[in-house]
Amino acid sequence: SRNQPARPAAPATPTLVTQPPDEAVMGAREAARAAASLEELKAILDGFEGCALKRTASRLVFADGNPAAKVMFVGEAPGRDEDQQGLPFVGRSGKLLDLMLASIGLDRTSAYIANVIPWRPPGNRTPTPQETAVCLPFIARQIELADPDILVCLGGPSAQALLGTTEGITRLRGRFMDYDTGTRTIRAIATFHPAYLLRTPLGKRFAWRDMLAVEALLAGKGGG
Ligand code: URA
Repeated sequence: SRNQPARPAAPATPTLVTQPPDEAVMGAREAARAAASLEELKAILDGFEGCALKRTASRLVFADGNPAAKVMFVGEAPGRDEDQQGLPFVGRSGKLLDLMLASIGLDRTSAYIANVIPWRPPGNRTPTPQETAVCLPFIARQIELADPDILVCLGGPSAQALLGTTEGITRLRGRFMDYDTGTRTIRAIATFHPAYLLRTPLGKRFAWRDMLAVEALLAGKGGG
């Protein structure tokens, strides 16, 4: 077995108020960093054993659409249809996402689509904070490698995970923020999740407004 490099001595720290990253999260960071391309990232993720969701899911749901697109949409986690087909947003929410894309002239040839969590949680339960923390380095690397100009977070959990905030979606949505990919700073915006819009059609007016802001930014206008 290989020798582990010695860990640097911990500096004297004040009382730790946040949990230190655990082994699985550190393993995820290392694994994600090792990927030099999206293809490699997909293969590494497929072989990653640090997230128990992999064992209950049918398959990895990595991405759909065009990785060279200027805009990337990131949802929360695959559902049943996505788990069966291995593609994000192919069920009922996905049909509405397609309409949201179409409303600003986009489709899956001009947008890239992924989720924070790439395996379906059993019974579509909410991913645990630990599962999100373990998957976060991978979606962060996926964003960095795809290198879109605009990141659109679909729903509160996606926005909170990617933008590192606990603010609710109603307050977060609709305004551009900076997102540091690790390579450069891009624009990010959060909007309502299509599944929420299916339950709450009155939210659509806000989501459509957010899509228009994305359209304007893509066209080189706006962005404030
Ligand atoms: N909801 C999501 O967040 N992602 C999907 O891929 C499907 C539904």
